[in-house]
Amino acid sequence: MSFTPYDRPVRAAFLGLGRIYDLNVRAYVGNPDVEVVALVDPSEERRAQRQGDWPDAKVFTSAAELAASGLEIDAVEVLLPTPLHTDGVVDLFDYGWHVNLQKPMCDDLASAQRMLDAARAKGRVLRVMENYLFYEPLRKLKEIVQSGEIGEVSGYHMKMVGSGRGGWDVPASSYEWQFQQMQRGRGILVFDDGWHKASTAIWLFGPIKEVRAWVGRTEVVPGVEIDAPTTITWEHQNGIRGVWDITLGVDMYLRSDYYTNDERWEITGRKGYARVNRCTGRGIQQPSLEVYVDGEMRSYHALDDDWASSFRDSGRHWLRWLHTGEGPMLWSGNEAVNVLRFALAIYASSTAGGTGVNPASIE
Ligand SMILES: NC(=O)c1ccc[n+]([C@@H]2O[C@H](COP(=O)([O-])OP(=O)(O)OC[C@H]3O[C@@H](n4cnc5c(N)ncnc54)[C@H](O)[C@@H]3O)[C@@H](O)[C@H]2O)c1
Repeated sequence: MSFTPYDRPVRAAFLGLGRIYDLNVRAYVGNPDVEVVALVDPSEERRAQRQGDWPDAKVFTSAAELAASGLEIDAVEVLLPTPLHTDGVVDLFDYGWHVNLQKPMCDDLASAQRMLDAARAKGRVLRVMENYLFYEPLRKLKEIVQSGEIGEVSGYHMKMVGSGRGGWDVPASSYEWQFQQMQRGRGILVFDDGWHKASTAIWLFGPIKEVRAWVGRTEVVPGVEIDAPTTITWEHQNGIRGVWDITLGVDMYLRSDYYTNDERWEITGRKGYARVNRCTGRGIQQPSLEVYVDGEMRSYHALDDDWASSFRDSGRHWLRWLHTGEGPMLWSGNEAVNVLRFALAIYASSTAGGTGVNPASIE
């Protein structure tokens, strides 16, 4: 890929102005690396709502309308419903724009390949944003583990409880496309939220050689099944094993400024352990990171553990990257395919009764 870094503010457009715009926008506000020049959404209500943030930006009902306008664009922040990602992104490359795409990138490898091929054909860059890799407690967790403080890693555990009460409002229109995804076998806990957990696993300990999974389901209202209880285990190429349990607390209230996810990451070493107590929601009201070694617990009280800050920092990383073209993109399109492979291996294993599946063998 040949990429020429920008020596002026990047001219950016937002494509999709729905729920998650509220967090992605934080990377753009007050950022001299970027100039927001266009806002695109078919919803008049959304366009009017977001225009207040960017009074000088032009508004459009579709990416095609933006392209036809002749307005100069360098990069697009893609916040489309997941089922629209592949066709939408291929069109953006045809228009000649770089793309920062929300996760999950798409549902299958053929769609991912279409996006990668389109990027290559047009000499444009595909990034699949992963805000969890910018969440300060998780970054500190990784740093502590790498420092050797808890000793050689013996294994780790991730936990996700989808709770039914609390948090911010999610528009009914978001549930419509999530429901489509569920019907295609790409559930909201294993695939949509799970994308983040799969990402953090690969980011922490590298490539995965075997996955064993048992994907369950629970009918929460007639006709709507959520993909829990689910248990997933895997082994990295370096021999470290991970376990991830996904459960539902349908009637559980969870205090959260965002989604009601009660999440944990706990890494056990030969000498101690380190645990991130929460991420999206305000589950355990203790310091977000604790480290136990030799009978003593150390707590981190001053980390930026507001989940929204991870969006700000992930987006800033991308907008800076466009000015340097150097360093990890977290994630490049190709790296994001490894996350997709992990997810697909989970389904393949579960379908086969929990047998071991190598993500690299998925076709
Ligand atoms: N990183 C995270 O933690 C996180 C959290 C939530 C959502 N997401 C991802 O962000 C994406 C968007 O999710 P959301 O919750 O904001 O969805 P949403 O349904 O709230 O918003 C989607 C917006 O896209 C608009 N839209 C639909 N078709 C369009 C088109 N052709 N062109 C332009 N705009 C169009 C809709 O009108 C809507 O305003 C999804 O891929 C989702 O998985 C990521």
